Amino acid sequence: MDDGATLIARLQAELGEDAVITDAAGLDGFIEDFRRRFKSGALCVAKPKSTAEVAAVVRLCAAAGVPILPQGGNTSLCAGAVPAAGRAMPVIVNLMRMRAIRRVDAQNGSMEVEAGCVLKAVQDAAAAVQRLYPVSLGAEGSCQIGGTLSTNAGGTSVLRYGNTRDNVLGLEVVLADGTIWNGLRALRKDNTGIDLKQLFIGAEGTLGIVTAVTLKLHPLPTHHALAWFAPTDPAAALQILGMFQAECGSRLSAYELMNRRQLDLVIEHVPGRRYPLEGKHAWHVLVELADTRGSASMAEQLQQTLERAAEAGLLADATLATSDAQRAAFWEVRHSVTEANMKAGVGLTTDCAVPVSAVPQFIDEATRAVRELVPDVDIVIVGHMGDGNVHFIPLFTFDAWHALANPAEMGARMRRQVNDVAHRLGGTFSAEHGVGQTGLAEMAHYKSDAELALMRTIKQALDPRNLLNPGRLLP
Ligand code: FAD
Ligand code: LAC
Ligand code: ZN
Repeated sequence: MDDGATLIARLQAELGEDAVITDAAGLDGFIEDFRRRFKSGALCVAKPKSTAEVAAVVRLCAAAGVPILPQGGNTSLCAGAVPAAGRAMPVIVNLMRMRAIRRVDAQNGSMEVEAGCVLKAVQDAAAAVQRLYPVSLGAEGSCQIGGTLSTNAGGTSVLRYGNTRDNVLGLEVVLADGTIWNGLRALRKDNTGIDLKQLFIGAEGTLGIVTAVTLKLHPLPTHHALAWFAPTDPAAALQILGMFQAECGSRLSAYELMNRRQLDLVIEHVPGRRYPLEGKHAWHVLVELADTRGSASMAEQLQQTLERAAEAGLLADATLATSDAQRAAFWEVRHSVTEANMKAGVGLTTDCAVPVSAVPQFIDEATRAVRELVPDVDIVIVGHMGDGNVHFIPLFTFDAWHALANPAEMGARMRRQVNDVAHRLGGTFSAEHGVGQTGLAEMAHYKSDAELALMRTIKQALDPRNLLNPGRLLP
């Protein structure tokens, strides 16, 4: 037997044969990324069902010197969850069988879950005890809690509740040598040394495998008021955001911007989606207020703020969702952007954040910058305006993309143009998606030597043999 076959046999002995996938057809869905742009081989997929089994897998791989790729729902938008080409084939450790909700403590506002729980299942379990787990994103029906932790996922509620990082109280992690660290505390306050959990949040599986999490829960808002409106331009959207913040305070729960091209693509490519407004408008915002009481006053607040914005000439049209079904329909439009863009062509999705006050300037300058390269390039914009995170997406039809002399180079140049604008404005090239494989060149370009050296020091200390997710996050 060769080394790979020996390791597979040992994994099968440890986990059971059905928990180790080795055949080509079975591997397919695990080795290719969500948007089908990256595909590379893996030795096998291991599906442990407990923390002890994850630790055993790690020990066996470490003994064989085989790299380990932790994987959740494989919804990464930066090829973070699939093998890297040109490297030793890893064992993919998918946590899909670790889905237990171990404990819900409504009074403490906490919930302990295994890392393989799908985000939507976590939200539902919290809601069942009148609590909210606030992290919400388009992939919530398939991404796993461990994946959202490892990418520090953002989504549509960051302006009120923060990123995933802000909603984690404790962690359980299997380290590179198979040691299990149980840090599953459910405390709001704990100053007993370095906050180790923060190391693993956003580390994209390079420092350990997250096996369980204690999440922070919030009071469940039961009343919502949602509107879709057309600001005259991004500067107006920014001014209206300020009006909502002043008027509605912490009730403001979502403020999502998109341009007309993005909305058109959703309506064209995703069955069942409808235009929220009658007229054609260049810019669109979905705004939502939420509270534990007072739906009538909230709808009034929403309406009055929009009326004042209209009087000030800041918006062209607006509509309030008048039923739960309409509210859901508007959210579906927002959450359909990735599906629409995938069907429409090759979108060069970027993930910049700039100071919220700089969003209009970012959009203007990024538009000019990419049109220097391709004057008529289609520009799709969608973003979490409330926290300064804009997905600025130059989009090519499939034909136009394949007609390019060097598509990969064009993709890299266009992204760099956009990221340069963000950088000049004090921003970042990756607000919420992470680095994965596609952001490696940007890490090398934008991060200071000191920052990269610190990250490498931590990596070296926790994974000296570079077995966990080599070839991503750190250039
Ligand atoms: P995967 O894609 O499987 O993995 C992501 C990374 O985490 C990889 O590096 C992987 O190795 C590592 N990892 C996974 N599980 C573990 C674990 N248990 N332990 C250690 N490392 C692990 N992201 C946002 O932030 N905001 C959005 O609004 C948003 N919208 C999206 C909409 C759509 C339609 C899609 C497809 C994606 C979207 N994303 C968004 C990106 C993605 O869904 C999130 O980043 C999500 O957090 C990834 O979770 P996952 O379980 O799919 O992780
Ligand atoms: C979104 C993804 C692209 O915001 O992050 O829909
Ligand atoms: Zn996003």
